[in-house]
Amino acid sequence: MIDAAVLRICGRPPVIESRPLPPLGPGEVLVRVAAAPITPLDVLCASGTSYFGEPATPYVPGVQGVGCLPDGRPVWFATSAGMRPGDGSMASVVAVPAHDIVPLPVDAPVPLTAALGLSAVAAQAALHVAGPLTNATPGSATGQAGGDVGKQVLVLGAGGVVGQAAIQLALLGGARRVIAVARSPEALAHAEQLGAAATVPLLPDDSETGLADCLRDVADGPVDLVIDPVFGIAAAAALRVLRPGGTLVNLGSSASATAPIDSATLRGGSLRVAGYTNNALTTEERARLITEIAAHATAGRLTVKHEVVPFAEVAEAWTRQVVGKTRGRVVLSIVDA
Ligand SMILES: NC(=O)c1ccc[n+]([C@@H]2O[C@H](COP(=O)([O-])OP(=O)(O)OC[C@H]3O[C@@H](n4cnc5c(N)ncnc54)[C@H](OP(=O)(O)O)[C@@H]3O)[C@@H](O)[C@H]2O)c1
Repeated sequence: MIDAAVLRICGRPPVIESRPLPPLGPGEVLVRVAAAPITPLDVLCASGTSYFGEPATPYVPGVQGVGCLPDGRPVWFATSAGMRPGDGSMASVVAVPAHDIVPLPVDAPVPLTAALGLSAVAAQAALHVAGPLTNATPGSATGQAGGDVGKQVLVLGAGGVVGQAAIQLALLGGARRVIAVARSPEALAHAEQLGAAATVPLLPDDSETGLADCLRDVADGPVDLVIDPVFGIAAAAALRVLRPGGTLVNLGSSASATAPIDSATLRGGSLRVAGYTNNALTTEERARLITEIAAHATAGRLTVKHEVVPFAEVAEAWTRQVVGKTRGRVVLSIVDA
């Protein structure tokens, strides 16, 4: 028998139940799960209000996890739980299609890798939607001769996992400067520790023009790229400080489903607004990105705030995720690695 967090009613937290070992389908392997994060996508799907529709219940949530194969090799894995029929990562043992498994370094930090997971994948992919983070200087083959040639990147939602990862991955990728926007002073202070050169608070009564003025004050000239997991006022303000031809990549709508974007700003700067979803990645692309993320985490170059919670407390932790009262990404500790 195994333990699984089972969600029986959409909108309610999952509860641990004892179940038989999952049967192996064609091309599947068993993974003993060490850690599974509770992400915004998990609770959104389980609410029944996502664009994937209401999931069939009961099911085990969890779109990703870290664990080991029967021979002990550590792996990261993905599932489609909540988006398509089938069970997810929040169980002591899961059956996963072999192509959804990515080998990890033997010394990969288990809870941290689980915490980073697909949010860091999205940050890394979004950072490269508009090409490399370094701009080649005319006349220089390497792009280094002209001095500061990296892009100036503006990261919205810098207190979240996407935002924290984007700050660090932008700098690791060659960005010359990162500006971070977040709501809390703690998140802004943390963003500075992660390498942000400047920070700007997002306040409840901000207007897009007022916030844009604050961003302009701290920017070193126009911004090349915006990473946007929040949308709303912050996205509209960020567009106003982009350089001509610059790009805003939207990954989420944590602040608002809509944004007051004005046509003149878009047209005047020939700006690009790109939508990004991990669901458009091939399994090979996703595996390559997870491998990069795990390598950075293992080498100590990439971190993110997370709290490790015993599996038995999944319902309480799930509820805290729903109401936004976690201390970073919740990672369920399921089976000792
Ligand atoms: N497109 C994709 O493939 C993809 C992949 C991963 C995540 N996402 C999405 O990206 C978003 C962030 O994910 P995450 O993993 O970073 O989540 P997270 O760690 O839970 O962080 C939540 C984020 O939402 C922001 N936020 C929440 N309520 C807000 C509000 N009322 N006003 C402004 N900001 C608010 C927070 O801002 P502060 O920084 O100010 O605290 C923080 O950046 C989610 O919508 C998620 O679904 C998309």
